[in-house]
Amino acid sequence: MKFHKTSSLKGEITVPGDKSISHRAVMFGALSKGKTEVTNFLQGADCLSTIDCFRRLDITIENEPDKITIHGKGLDGLSAPSSILDTGNSGTTTRLISGILAGQPFETTLTGDASIQKRPMKRIMEPLSMMGARIESLNGNNCAPLKITGSSLKGIHYRPEVISAQVKSAILLAGLYADSPTSVTELALSRNHSELMLRTFGADVRTEGTTATVYPRPVLTGQKINVPGDISSAAYFLAAGLLVPDADILIRNVGINPTRAGILKVIKDMGGQITLLNENQEGEPTADIHVTYSPLHGTVIEGDIIPTLIDELPIIAVMAAMADGTTVIRNAAELKVKESNRIDVMVENLSAMGCDIDGTEDGMIIRGTHPSVRPLHGAVIHAHDDHRIAMSFAIASLMAEGETDIVDSECVSISYPDFYGDLRKLCGR
Ligand code: S3P
Repeated sequence: MKFHKTSSLKGEITVPGDKSISHRAVMFGALSKGKTEVTNFLQGADCLSTIDCFRRLDITIENEPDKITIHGKGLDGLSAPSSILDTGNSGTTTRLISGILAGQPFETTLTGDASIQKRPMKRIMEPLSMMGARIESLNGNNCAPLKITGSSLKGIHYRPEVISAQVKSAILLAGLYADSPTSVTELALSRNHSELMLRTFGADVRTEGTTATVYPRPVLTGQKINVPGDISSAAYFLAAGLLVPDADILIRNVGINPTRAGILKVIKDMGGQITLLNENQEGEPTADIHVTYSPLHGTVIEGDIIPTLIDELPIIAVMAAMADGTTVIRNAAELKVKESNRIDVMVENLSAMGCDIDGTEDGMIIRGTHPSVRPLHGAVIHAHDDHRIAMSFAIASLMAEGETDIVDSECVSISYPDFYGDLRKLCGR
């Protein structure tokens, strides 16, 4: 798909529901007794993979335009699937469902697309094996396909080397089936949607600092869940609003859970003008975000803030490329094992547009220049089938001279099916 510079970006949008929360609503609804109704569910390919997997585990899920309904059967209500589970492109589905399958009295094989089959699974295989499950990587490379033989599990206290909500959640979900409490202590706090939502469904989950503990065998009860807008999707329009001259946009109902909202602090550190309106602190906190054009300057992004903006680093790199001065991103080696190697892919594509950027072992060094001084130029972009890369470069193209051609642009369907429609609307096209 081809993209061009825009002279205008104005209006109001509502971004789709949060991907992490949508996955969890289906999973926890399936493990609860009774009906769970989910509104503003993200109809992206990743969350549809989660629905498909739970249907194969014999859970009835109705998917209507305005809501999805999960007819949960309780912790022991899943049945052995008659086929392999396909988790598509979704790391969240793969890792979280593994935690649930670890506690089932049957064997399951699961796999996903080419990207999923390269993503590291040892990080969940190790703790789930310590709890008593048998998990085999069928190609012997610690990646999917995985054969999971569930078992009666024992509680553990685990300290993951990587800071990952997917790892934490997989262990906590297995902990629902254990014989004693299960704790995870993280090096820094990753997103806490599992802890918050498990509690809503009736689980006994306690948190202290970076330790989360789940008590076994709760009775979970179906809930009504209204999913907030995804800050990871809003991030593209926050960046566009800051970068396009005269831009003025309002993004409604965005989730601003502090374990997800690191990008808001980075924007402020870079000199960006954003205002939160109509803040609501009940449950998962939300706000409307007003953003206007602001000249940005470089910054340093490192340490405990990294897990709170891990999915936003590609679009933050685009902002850095158009900010005055150098931006340094450190402690973000996890970028190498996302849907693509996001360090390599950002360096490849931002360089193609004329940006001065180096990849490092755990981040990037971006020597930015404001577009009014020296703009980036259009290029052929290879998103490597990574939705967040495609969306980041669609935004970069709005300030670039000449044409930008994103060859695999359709991958945005993973997390934001109507991304290009919303972008066109704001550009007045
Ligand atoms: C997610 C956690 C993050 C994030 C992913 C969704 C989740 O992964 O990158 O898009 O829903 O738990 P890690 O926790 O492995 O970093």
